[in-house]
Amino acid sequence: MWLGIDIGTGGTRALLVDERGAVRGGYTAVHEDILMQRPLWAEQRPENWWDAAVAAIRGVLAETGVPGGAVKGIGLSGQMHGLVILDEAHRVIRPSLIWCDQRSQAQVDGVNRKLGREKILSYIANPVLTGFTLPKLLWVRDNEPRNFERVRKMLLPKDYVRFMLTGEFASEVSDASGTAVFDVVKRRWSYEMMDGLGLDREILPRCYESSEVTGAITREVAGITGLAAGTPVVGGGGDQASSAVGNGIVEEGIVSCTLGTSGVVFAHMEQVAYDPAGRVHTFCHAVRDKWHVMGVTQGAGLSLQWFRNRLAPGVEYDALMAEAAQSPAGAQGLFWLPYLMGERTPHLDAAARGGWIGLTASHTRADLIRSLIEGVCYSQRDCLEIIESLGVTVSSVRASGGGARSAFWRGLLASILDKRVVTLETQEGSAYGAALLALAGTGAYGGVPEVCRAAIRETESVEPGDAAGFYGKAHGIYQALYPALRPIYARIGGM
Ligand code: XUL
Repeated sequence: MWLGIDIGTGGTRALLVDERGAVRGGYTAVHEDILMQRPLWAEQRPENWWDAAVAAIRGVLAETGVPGGAVKGIGLSGQMHGLVILDEAHRVIRPSLIWCDQRSQAQVDGVNRKLGREKILSYIANPVLTGFTLPKLLWVRDNEPRNFERVRKMLLPKDYVRFMLTGEFASEVSDASGTAVFDVVKRRWSYEMMDGLGLDREILPRCYESSEVTGAITREVAGITGLAAGTPVVGGGGDQASSAVGNGIVEEGIVSCTLGTSGVVFAHMEQVAYDPAGRVHTFCHAVRDKWHVMGVTQGAGLSLQWFRNRLAPGVEYDALMAEAAQSPAGAQGLFWLPYLMGERTPHLDAAARGGWIGLTASHTRADLIRSLIEGVCYSQRDCLEIIESLGVTVSSVRASGGGARSAFWRGLLASILDKRVVTLETQEGSAYGAALLALAGTGAYGGVPEVCRAAIRETESVEPGDAAGFYGKAHGIYQALYPALRPIYARIGGM
């Protein structure tokens, strides 16, 4: 039996799989609410992740009746980009600034001024973004110097849990890629970034490939979790790379489209390539010596969730989808811009705003809902087009997440992306990918692609419909809206 543990934002999930990658059971322990003391701030307590990890491990063992000694390997996955800092005695110095914390624009500007954007791109293959780990550390330096002085180790969220499980300071390439101090091309820490900013290299943990063993369960942890002391823990991956492993995105040709609160288009790359404008992230994949590229729509499922909560309270999502299906392709000339939380890909603009364009008195609620789903799909097409422009070939798209549960949404996605859209038998996401990485590192397989080939099966498939040609043209109109509105967003932001 192999165990995957995903330290998410809302909770930590532990999942057991057998030697064929079949799921035996899962258990989720919910986290405390995100601390949001000010707008743009988002913090969580690492100690709470650890308590949740222990509860999830104990929970899955109890529910499945699997003895801890039967677990042969463990993989970790986690929310990316978060900053955990430890002092001399390995105590947590302050709550973690997590992935969606946006307070560090001044630090991003400072890094760009000091090192120059071109150089940064050559060091880490990405621009420095406020969401990434480095500017969060620099925010602590600039605003909490006493805390900064005490920093002896800097860890990512899942790597803090690894430290608690094994006593080792370790990370792996996929999650390290999102720190902005990692050389994604050479798959090692970027000493150029650390030295260039006067940061101590010693605070960085040792970095491994994702399926490599990084340590083993300590005797003390064995006592509190029921796992056996000495059980190996592999590197694992950032939640997006882990989820991609769980979706079998480990070879070129197939991309995944995860329609959760945000929407992520994720592609495997044999050779590293990056967008000079930084509109998509190029990171190391959890597959040895491979890379991935991903584009992010901030307001995917969020668009529909917002619509339901504010404009159709109490209506089931299935009913909203059935209503949308009554509206024709293009929703009678109505467009939805899904920029409810600004936008990452392709605009990298936190100030972008959502909205409908093209409303007339004849539009119905069905048109509103249909245009909303179409707008999210257009944004996903924006992501896919940039990925294809990097030379990645795409034959089909594996859809997962809440939005992919709707056959209507999957059909629209197929027509708007103009690709075959398929769904998979197991939709367990990141925790499943982490378990498969454990199986790849400590089981009988040769590597991650072999595990995925054995474990992952496609179920349903939908081809692009007759409207695909129409949507190609409509996407052109959609793409013209943001540049026209950008000056207006700036003025609205200043109100
Ligand atoms: C990836 C990203 C999210 C977080 C939280 O770039 O920001 O996937 O890892 O889930």
